[in-house]
Amino acid sequence: MRDGDGFVRIASTTDVPENSVIGLRVGEQDIALFHLENGEFRATDNICTHEYALMSEGWLEDCVIECPLHAGRFDVRTGKGLCAPIERDLPVFEVRISGTDVFVKLP
Ligand code: FES
Repeated sequence: MRDGDGFVRIASTTDVPENSVIGLRVGEQDIALFHLENGEFRATDNICTHEYALMSEGWLEDCVIECPLHAGRFDVRTGKGLCAPIERDLPVFEVRISGTDVFVKLP
């Protein structure tokens, strides 16, 4: 359900254990939802910007996700690509938590 300012409820906070990531599809958008060690929730596009791989199948360490296909790494807070072969940053989506509901602002 989309509210007036473009946020859509995509999950419950309990769907994602701390220090892990899940993949979701909302409409046409693939989303990786991260629950970081420090308790923050972050969301990015779930498709790597290098080739086709799901970030939710990669390895999360602190705030960095490593792509399962060629080991490209991104900071999930900013989407910034951190090493080769990544040439384009990962789109990030604003997250809002309300109670146990996780909302993401989609483009
Ligand atoms: S597909 Fe992600 S680094 Fe190549």
